Amino acid sequence: MDVSALLEAARRASTRAYAPYSKLRVGCVIESADGELFAGCNVENASYGLTICAERAAICAAVAAGARSFRRIGLYSSAKRLITPCGACRQVLAELAPKAQIWMTCANGEKRRRSVSQLLPDQFSKDGWK
Ligand code: THU
Repeated sequence: MDVSALLEAARRASTRAYAPYSKLRVGCVIESADGELFAGCNVENASYGLTICAERAAICAAVAAGARSFRRIGLYSSAKRLITPCGACRQVLAELAPKAQIWMTCANGEKRRRSVSQLLPDQFSKDGWK
């Protein structure tokens, strides 16, 4: 699957966001080592801090379906400018998808790629300093 198709799947996931408070729709797809895609979107709550980001929703869906090894992540937000995963999502991605490449896009069509370790250098991990 090419990067545009990955990002289009992320955009489609964003259409299912539940975001009545921020109005920002975020969609994420995680591609497993064997090419399966798992989608997530942000799910907000009236108690704002309980909001779940698209990235964590996607990775939880993937793990629940039995996937454990991931190669790429597509992230789309309805914002006019690119967003990157929040700090909490970076830590979760570092745990479960440490080797993944993250492709990001937004409503203006701009694309950018980062590795998980670029986004979270010197991460806390069960294996100590990496
Ligand atoms: N959000 C995500 O889904 N992923 C991110 O990486 C950043 C933020 C969501 C959470 C909330 O629903 C909205 O975007 C505004 O913060």
